[in-house]
Amino acid sequence: MQPETPQPQSKPKQHAGLILGIESSCDETSAAVVEAGARVLSNVVASQVRTHARYGGVVPELASREHLLNIVPVVRAALEQANLTLDQLDAIAVTEGPGLSGALLVGILYAKALAFALNKPLIAVNHLEGHIHAVLLEAREQHQAIAAPLLALVVSGGHTHLYLAEEGFSAEGISAEGLYTEGKGVWKYRNVGKTLDDAAGEAFDKVAKLLGLGYPGGPWMDALAQHGDARAVPFGPVTIKQKPYREPAAQSPRFLFSFSGLKTAVLRYVETHNLQAQITARRTALAAIENPGPQDALPLCDKETLNLIASFQRAVIDDLLRKTFAAAEALHVRSLVISGGVAANRELRRRFTQEASRRALSLAFPSIALSTDNAAMIAAAAWPRFAAGSFASEELSAEPSLKLG
Ligand code: KG4
Ligand code: ZN
Repeated sequence: MQPETPQPQSKPKQHAGLILGIESSCDETSAAVVEAGARVLSNVVASQVRTHARYGGVVPELASREHLLNIVPVVRAALEQANLTLDQLDAIAVTEGPGLSGALLVGILYAKALAFALNKPLIAVNHLEGHIHAVLLEAREQHQAIAAPLLALVVSGGHTHLYLAEEGFSAEGISAEGLYTEGKGVWKYRNVGKTLDDAAGEAFDKVAKLLGLGYPGGPWMDALAQHGDARAVPFGPVTIKQKPYREPAAQSPRFLFSFSGLKTAVLRYVETHNLQAQITARRTALAAIENPGPQDALPLCDKETLNLIASFQRAVIDDLLRKTFAAAEALHVRSLVISGGVAANRELRRRFTQEASRRALSLAFPSIALSTDNAAMIAAAAWPRFAAGSFASEELSAEPSLKLG
């Protein structure tokens, strides 16, 4: 891609911290321009949902191919919407991992080429840190401080992690214009909880698939659960009996998640209540609809199925809520941040908000648009690194299993 010719328009002020973020870790190709980790100038997301929907999950080879097709137009659109040219950027940030290696590589190679051609710094960002910064970015945008230490629950299709963020964003870190002041706000994370098997979003997706609903299943379950009785099917609480082998001392089994048992319990329910014929009929009916949504599934679900969906959703939320608030209490945090695709769930938001207010604990979610994968969160997470001069080397490559904390 050729760098665009600079336009004779008013240049942004020096050191505005204009960062182009690029995200391609899974099935969204996204590019965004964020100013100083605090102001979104553009955030373009090309979703591949329709490509993967027919397979009921992300197909890695197809994801890489779609990223290749989308990356150039998405970056171009992000610059156009921000009304900027490439030479006006201060840095390029890209997701290093975790994610699908082929998918990550598309974003990384493109970001590296841009940084090299433009002679701009390249910043590597952990996708999980990005999800946390989606919340911090919007707090900065609204000139709200999030008191540290905070506990972040990152709950998505690939992750269910609890992080203690020990240092960071505070009211003192904001300049008069509401921007981060240099040198402050470099974050440190400690992983204090995780899932031992399926991520919460993965459990939503698998149960939706099992019930003959569309992909990704989370939004379908969210919409249909509103029509069911969440107490109808008494799924028991998820308990982790054994401290897993080689578990780090810092990680208490109280903050470990497991959702595969719940998924199996739904499967048993389907078998024992003879729901299979209805599921097959629903799957066939939805397959005949062009681009179906939850509203198409509603008349195809009987009361028993709607109750099952609502009860499953309640069991997942109960578990997330119980362990997250237990960790918040044990770690004496001042705020709670919930992010990742599952943070878009309406019932989850309602229950967490209710519990946080009962405990007088500050709680923040990203907007729905920044809950799922996007590049604005990557550009925002890159800002403290940019300010600290922490740049990636030319050897930067995809880290599919990258950890945070
Ligand atoms: O953060 P994200 O876009 O990608 C990953 O990093 O995984 O999260 C996608 C996940 C999917 O599992 C999807 O089903 C789930 O988030 N999700 C939801 C909702 N919206 C998306 N789960 C429950 N309720 C929702 N409203
Ligand atoms: Zn994600």
